[in-house]
Amino acid sequence: MNKIKYFSDSLEVQNRIIILRLDLNVPLQEKKIQDYNRILLTLPFLKDLVRKKAKIIIISHLGRPKGKRSNEFSLTPIYKFLKENLKTNVYFYMGDINEETKSKFSYLKEGEIILLENIRFFEGENKNDDDFAKKLASIGDMYINDAFSCSHRKQASIHKITKYINECYAGPLLKKEIEAINSIIKNKKKPVTCIIGGSKISTKINVINNLVKNVNNIVIVGAMANNFLIFKGFVIGKSLIEKGTKETISQIYVEAKKYNCNILIPEDCSVSNDFKSTGKIKITDSIDKDEMILDIGPKTIKNIHSIIDQSKTVLWNGPAGYIENKNFSHGTLAIANKISESTNKKSLISIIGGGDTISAINKSKDKFVFTHLSTAGGAFLEFLEGKDLPGLDVLK
Ligand code: 3PG
Repeated sequence: MNKIKYFSDSLEVQNRIIILRLDLNVPLQEKKIQDYNRILLTLPFLKDLVRKKAKIIIISHLGRPKGKRSNEFSLTPIYKFLKENLKTNVYFYMGDINEETKSKFSYLKEGEIILLENIRFFEGENKNDDDFAKKLASIGDMYINDAFSCSHRKQASIHKITKYINECYAGPLLKKEIEAINSIIKNKKKPVTCIIGGSKISTKINVINNLVKNVNNIVIVGAMANNFLIFKGFVIGKSLIEKGTKETISQIYVEAKKYNCNILIPEDCSVSNDFKSTGKIKITDSIDKDEMILDIGPKTIKNIHSIIDQSKTVLWNGPAGYIENKNFSHGTLAIANKISESTNKKSLISIIGGGDTISAINKSKDKFVFTHLSTAGGAFLEFLEGKDLPGLDVLK
């Protein structure tokens, strides 16, 4: 099997233009960064490249702006943070990516950084467009992907760019993630439980179909669970759902039966008419048509705790509720506390993943203990599933 090519300290980077793909996709509220974890993790390598006098061009996405410029998804707050926290000149480039871009960057001196505005403002990024990837690649001399959490995306700055640049490597953060997850997969002990939540339903729902073959329990929470509740015939009011998932869910239950995997969905939940208020606990069969499910309820938490108690390995990805409002973060924190306690006292093997999950945990005052905390959400699940991630494949 071909191995991923990792960036090594012995590589000469002085005066070379390094295109560095990072995942600076952090939660923002009114242009304020809500969780710095993903950015802070990138700083040591950035500082190292600055010290070695590389010229650095950072690429990242933020949210899903679908190929259009929008203020809401601008990387400006992240740029400000980098500027304040790195002892070098950091510039922000908001222009187009074309044949002239490289010459526009000729002002960049050794050890300086340019951050490109949200790469998903360009249609070519999402389409993994050849021409766009070629223009992007033409800016630099070397490409480093240090964004494991985006490596499941077949997008230009992750995938096609590598076709047009000779020297391509995986960065140290990506390496650390892969080594940690691989070691856990290798040493995992049964029973294995996978808890899946969050709102990126389409990314994760197909993964479940394969996971049922490898784990003993799957717990579905967050907006993901809404689709399962509908499938079971419950009325869930205005709750977030993804259309067209019936077939997939039906298949998941067939596979789960075949492989003897237990699937747990919420029995009760916290509902509200809007995102700002406090919630009301309801059994899942009594939700009104103007209500939304925004968290799991106490009975569900109890069920999840008991499954965690019976497990030797727990993989968790995606919050159990609308964590942006702390009234709906009880479920997420109750899961985090239980996993942490079992990791600490009962040697449970635990991996927690996903930007939102980590953000919820970081907001809490509690101190948690997990075997590994991954920055990745969908990428982490697809990697667990044993899939070849397009962004990693091209680095082999
Ligand atoms: C993530 O938050 O999981 C990554 O930044 C990837 O984002 P995406 O699901 O919008 O591609």
